[in-house]
Amino acid sequence: MKRSLFMTMMVAALALALALPLYAAAPKAPAEGLAMKAPAGAKQPVVKFNHGTHKSAKCADCHHKKVGASEFAKCDSKGCHADYAAKTGKESYYAAFHGANAKSCLGCHKAVKDKSPNAPSACPKCHVKG
Ligand code: HEC
Ligand code: HEC
Ligand code: HEC
Repeated sequence: MKRSLFMTMMVAALALALALPLYAAAPKAPAEGLAMKAPAGAKQPVVKFNHGTHKSAKCADCHHKKVGASEFAKCDSKGCHADYAAKTGKESYYAAFHGANAKSCLGCHKAVKDKSPNAPSACPKCHVKG
């Protein structure tokens, strides 16, 4: 009897130990090194985005459109930045990340470069090989 109680407790403790990291790893922002969606036939290495280095920005600075109550729209959602061919304009996928406005990756990095020298503008710093 005692032995089975001990076993039960061990199993419960093990289950808890396994479940805890799941809770800890289920924050709102996703894992680091999130592979961005590259257009078909992309020439540059795919960009991997880190949320951890962007805590100084508000979620809504980048995620400025929602689907339903809580889910963020993908950048290339219909009516958003879904035009893979255009280099400029509101619907251009390319311009969403390189446009001059301070909400694009490159636009923000250029705007903050004096305060934040670690915000890169050089191509291979975002388009990291390998
Ligand atoms: C601050 C980050 C950042 C910098 C710096 C940057 N890009 Fe990008 N670029 C992106 C993101 C994000 C995408 C979309 C995701 C992807 O294609 O990997 C993209 C996509 C592209 C694309 C379309 C996909 C392809 O590979 O053909 C081209 C072309 C491109 N970038 C060229 C450049 C060039 C040239 C430079 C340097 C002048 C540059 N980028 C600098 C973030 C950046
Ligand atoms: C500097 C810009 C930026 C900031 C700030 C930012 N994100 Fe993101 N996030 C992105 C990009 C880019 C993607 C990829 C979107 C896509 O694939 O269309 C993304 C993707 C996500 C995803 C989807 C992950 C997946 O696997 O598809 C979630 C969830 C998310 N972000 C949550 C957050 C939360 C919560 C915050 C605020 C605490 C935040 N983000 C702040 C740029 C940002
Ligand atoms: C609102 C401003 C802002 C936007 C938008 C933004 N960044 Fe940044 N980014 C920063 C700042 C500030 C830093 C420097 C953080 C530090 O000093 O550690 C940075 C750092 C980085 C770095 C170097 C650190 C690392 O994580 O490797 C990369 C790469 C990067 N950003 C990519 C991107 C990409 C890709 C996007 C668009 C999807 C983006 N950023 C959008 C402000 C921004």
